[in-house]
Amino acid sequence: MMNRRTISALLAGAAVTSACTIPTEPLSNNIAYPFRAQVQNATRPEVHNQYMNLFIAGGGDRHLFIGPVGEPTYDLTLVDGVINHVPNGVRAVIGGEIDHTTKLFMTGRGDYRAVFEPTYACNPDTDELQIELRFVEWQNQPTGGWICVRSAFENSHEFRYNPPGNTLIDVDRECIKVTLVVIPTTGLPPQSSTTLSTSTIPAPTGTTTTTTTATTTSVPSSTPSGAFTDLTALGYRFLGCAPEERWTTDGSFRTLSGATESSADAMTNQRCAAFCTAAGFKYAGSEWSRECWCGNAFAPTRQPATTLASLAQCNFKCTGDLGQFCGGDAWLSLYEKCEAGAACDNVVFT
Ligand SMILES: *[C@@H]1O[C@H](CO)[C@@H](O)[C@H](O)[C@H]1NC(C)=O
Repeated sequence: MMNRRTISALLAGAAVTSACTIPTEPLSNNIAYPFRAQVQNATRPEVHNQYMNLFIAGGGDRHLFIGPVGEPTYDLTLVDGVINHVPNGVRAVIGGEIDHTTKLFMTGRGDYRAVFEPTYACNPDTDELQIELRFVEWQNQPTGGWICVRSAFENSHEFRYNPPGNTLIDVDRECIKVTLVVIPTTGLPPQSSTTLSTSTIPAPTGTTTTTTTATTTSVPSSTPSGAFTDLTALGYRFLGCAPEERWTTDGSFRTLSGATESSADAMTNQRCAAFCTAAGFKYAGSEWSRECWCGNAFAPTRQPATTLASLAQCNFKCTGDLGQFCGGDAWLSLYEKCEAGAACDNVVFT
């Protein structure tokens, strides 16, 4: 195994000669010295050479972003090919949220891990020797996938996993294939975990110009009506905050699979309900600030809870109205079209 000084010497030596010679010695799958993870794709300047940030999320998880979201992290390590952040007790896994790709994030729970292999390579800009974390596999899944980043809120990009043979493409949210590179943090102070933000994940803000990065959007328990949009006057009742596709616990199928649309700047619950009605569906669910999903049925395991606390999961503001919530990260704000002539009441949450 190589220590940090050896790596630094190798990098320095390569810089002097300005020619990249790949060492023949194999690299260990464990990197004990602290490092930052850099993203590279030289053909895509909007993401090239940015660093992976950790953003605190529910249950102690960390979501992974590049750009002006999350906290820079100087003390990642690699344990048997898995990226760890020891101060927060989390490691990189894949799962939880699936659509065209699957989420790469960090958690302390037992989700299947993302496995990488440290590999020498030449920096595409400088030709200096660098150590890349080549993606090997999603633990226990077929090999051949890759890591990518796609645009998220506030000019950030979120990390995703593109599975082998994937033919699904979201034209609104291209997932850019990236290489992860180990940047040893010699000379940089280790980041204390206590400096991480303790706010919940900020709601995406669509095309507004707000620069707030830590808006807390928890649901006030005394005013449940603020947690959803009352559409009863329009003939829709709110059913609750329903779980979406959950690979590790409930399979990779959408809660509502009839029709879908997305709007980066104009999604509201009214729009989603109208879209699903026009498409001939009974249920309408908004998600991730900008998505709308429709269907005529959903699995019993996707039934929303009726507790006030459950509404807190649907805390992403709608791209078309920051005064409304349009679901959450793998959660749907779920509405049902009321029967003609029947009472039209929202579910009561207690
Ligand atoms: C850069 O991203 C594009 C789009 O995802 C991809 O086709 C290309 O292979 C990537 N290049 C590298 C070096 O990863």
